[in-house]
Amino acid sequence: MAESNGPMGNRQETGPAENSERIPEEPGKQYSGSVQWLSPSNIALVKYWGKRENQIPENPSISITLSRSHTLTLLRYSPARKGRGRLAGFLFNGQEQPAFSGRIESYLGLVRTLFPFLDEYEIFIESTNSFPHSSGIASSASSMSALSLCLLSMERILSGASPDDEAFYRKASYAARIGSGSASRSVYPGYVLWGSTPGIASSSDEFAVPVNEMVHEVFSSMHDSILIVDEGPKAVSSSTGHSMMTDNPWSPARYSQACENIESILRILNAGDLDEFVKLVEWEALTLHSLMLNSRNGYILLKPGTIQIIDKVRLFRRETSIPVAFTLDAGPNVHLIYSSLFREKVEKFIREELLVHCTRGKWIDDLIGEGPVQITGK
Ligand code: DP6
Repeated sequence: MAESNGPMGNRQETGPAENSERIPEEPGKQYSGSVQWLSPSNIALVKYWGKRENQIPENPSISITLSRSHTLTLLRYSPARKGRGRLAGFLFNGQEQPAFSGRIESYLGLVRTLFPFLDEYEIFIESTNSFPHSSGIASSASSMSALSLCLLSMERILSGASPDDEAFYRKASYAARIGSGSASRSVYPGYVLWGSTPGIASSSDEFAVPVNEMVHEVFSSMHDSILIVDEGPKAVSSSTGHSMMTDNPWSPARYSQACENIESILRILNAGDLDEFVKLVEWEALTLHSLMLNSRNGYILLKPGTIQIIDKVRLFRRETSIPVAFTLDAGPNVHLIYSSLFREKVEKFIREELLVHCTRGKWIDDLIGEGPVQITGK
């Protein structure tokens, strides 16, 4: 990710997902094959918070797939004796990361029945993120979707079969879900729904589905300006947060509210109603953090800067009537979601009033994207 100095600090920028971006093959090392995918992160509008066994969500969620915050993953493989398949190495940003490779290893164990060929191959994985590891952007959605797409491509190459795109991406989404729930949504472009939803026949708790054809064109060019209030590691991980929903007395109310909000957001997206969109997206963001607050052993991930930005966004909206919404992940950084129709005014507002609350003036200038891109190994 290139950085350039804006008038009020560092602006974090990345180029759009491009085929020219790739991890170079190591000269001199022999592998029988390799595949490489670039997959973006996503931002949820209606949040997934709470899950059952096997990564089954307690409620449906819907997100926008991003463009510039992505993971690039190269998977190389060589035959091993039957039963001797293993992860032979994992590099993140060119370096060994034992914590990450442990997570990849257990993921490969979980998906072994989905990809039985893993028993017979040594695989070596290299990943890089377009966004700094410490930027506070959740990387599990982009990294787990990139890895599952690599496994699907490897399967396609080894079997010689060419499943249609629908079956390919459905299995990729299913496999990504096993690694991280939100990753199931990152295998598709634009607006993506994960979780069984009445009225959407193809929807499922096991994989995500794109819903772009239902979305009004006013929502087709949305920006996500990510304001980095704090880039330190989160005090409480998302996994712990999900698990704290099991004995949260508000969980049943949340799950039924989320189902109603899914119905509402689908109606709003279809009607092209930007004002209702803002109300619903902000309600979801604050609900997510209220669930952290009112869990047993409740916790707060919001920082003073988060609150100051939220206050200013609401004031800006009152004064200008520009429909810009804030949303939050499980962290303190603020995502501003708005249509490109309002880009100039919102960018000025960000630079003049919001970057002062960001760590070293950092923000990531992202937008709705076209989904993952296969770089090599077709
Ligand atoms: C607040 O997908 O990171 O971003 O399934 O345990 O990997 P795991 O959790 P994860 O949770 C995402 C939570 C969220 C909301 C969302 O993306 O829907």
